[in-house]
Amino acid sequence: MVDNTAETSTGEPAVSGVDPNRVYIFDTTLRDGEQSPGASLTSAEKLEIARQLARLGVDIIEAGFPAASPDDLLAVQRIAQEVGTPDGPVIAGLARATPGDIDKAWEAVRPAARPRIHTFLATSDIHMQHKLRMTREQVIDRTREMVAYAKAYCQDVEFSPEDAGRSDPDFLITVLAVAIEAGATTLNIPDTVGYTTPDEYYALMRRLITETPGGDRVIWSVHCHDDLGLATANTLAGIRAGARQAEVTVNGIGERAGNTSLEEVVMALHTRRTFYNLYTGIDTTQIVRASRMVSNYTGMIVQPNKAIVGSNAFAHEAGIHQDGMLKNQQTYEIMTPETVGLSQSRLVLGKHSGRHAFRVRLQELGFELSDEDITTAFARFKDLADKKKTVTDADLEALVADEFYGPHELYKLLDLQVTCGRPGMPTATVRLQGPDGREHVAPAVGTGPVDASFAAIDSIIKAPNTLIEYSVHSITEGIDAMGEVTVRIAAQNGPSRTFGGYGADTDIIMASAKAYLAALNRMLVVKGSQFSQPEGESSAIQVTPAVG
Ligand code: KIV
Ligand code: ZN
Repeated sequence: MVDNTAETSTGEPAVSGVDPNRVYIFDTTLRDGEQSPGASLTSAEKLEIARQLARLGVDIIEAGFPAASPDDLLAVQRIAQEVGTPDGPVIAGLARATPGDIDKAWEAVRPAARPRIHTFLATSDIHMQHKLRMTREQVIDRTREMVAYAKAYCQDVEFSPEDAGRSDPDFLITVLAVAIEAGATTLNIPDTVGYTTPDEYYALMRRLITETPGGDRVIWSVHCHDDLGLATANTLAGIRAGARQAEVTVNGIGERAGNTSLEEVVMALHTRRTFYNLYTGIDTTQIVRASRMVSNYTGMIVQPNKAIVGSNAFAHEAGIHQDGMLKNQQTYEIMTPETVGLSQSRLVLGKHSGRHAFRVRLQELGFELSDEDITTAFARFKDLADKKKTVTDADLEALVADEFYGPHELYKLLDLQVTCGRPGMPTATVRLQGPDGREHVAPAVGTGPVDASFAAIDSIIKAPNTLIEYSVHSITEGIDAMGEVTVRIAAQNGPSRTFGGYGADTDIIMASAKAYLAALNRMLVVKGSQFSQPEGESSAIQVTPAVG
């Protein structure tokens, strides 16, 4: 028998083969995170993020909700095949408690070496009465049947009583005991609407863990939303109460105010390890890269003061702080930037530097590129080194992310030329390469150079949309810094989803055009063939005049 509490750091594991002092990190960026308004990702991006999550060392990747659409199913399946290797993470698929959803979840995750089906059913009175229209007895029966149904496919079954934070604890204990009896191996307790406080959540977890019959045979898991800004505090409270799986997302993205942020929980356990006496399998030096990748692909900007991964998280502005830092870093720093992968090192390669050193630095940063891609990246690096005095790791990451990991499935920006200033009409001419390899050239006039560039792109791609967010900031300091642009657009036809895009360049108009094109590409890939494409012409270069 096990004491599941954090206070006890020794003893038998709750489940055989499981270390009682380890907190398993269940990442749901690709499922709960992708449900964030505007966080739509293409399958290729999901795969790339899953690869980064594996490098980060997460234990379980919830790769998606396969019943949501055939594309979602395929994306999960591909992650199961390519990332769910024997020494890789467990790959989970979410399913409502219905045979149809569970069939699809199984079809998606079964190629993984270690698949998991995660099924859920609401247990709060408000959800049962108004959403499910089911009685308590029906919910108990459905839980038994559907956990057993999932178990017939897969040894590893997780069950979540949705809205547990507002459910009657006595009823929860009954439902959870039934789930254990039917074969669930992980019980996840979601605070679906981010309602509970840390003390309440601790008490709830403690009670469920100690009073649920069979509770010592399963892993207990926490899943907290951030509606009151308490997600990380609640998650840590649940861990102190004995939970050993934490469900989290990179940058805390998720439904409404988001989910619990992976980096906050991991770094709290890491930085305060003598307090918690627990550890995770996360390689913390991969955190910043994961954060940037998720932000760039989803177009969801990380607020500058965000803990761990915000651009100000390690910046010291006040003179008194700077003075202290110069004397001893620990005066104002509880963890070093290097621990989370924020390297201050400068790549001292100039235009005369060799390709070998360049490749080695990319490898050190975790980028494995083919010879052909190294050639392209090296040319871009030389170009950048011509313009910038020093090229930082952040510049290099932006350059590689922008060139190789963006959604370039459809249109690629070849050239952009802009004239602007007063007097005059801001005019842009763009040259794009289309999905079929043909080139398209179009000029347009706009209210400014960015507007003109976007209008020129629109006149070629013709995918009606509304620009709802545009932001620009510099990656590093200095007048020659690379500019990063993030945009968000909403499709004018079809379901109201928004799409983010990211671009980086020393020229912010170029960065803007890249970001806009990335968002358009993402919209076109995600929405399939809903949008009209340029009419085909046989000439290699198609010139489409337009006025924006
Ligand atoms: O917040 C929630 O309740 C969920 C469940 C599906 C686990 O995301
Ligand atoms: Zn959730």
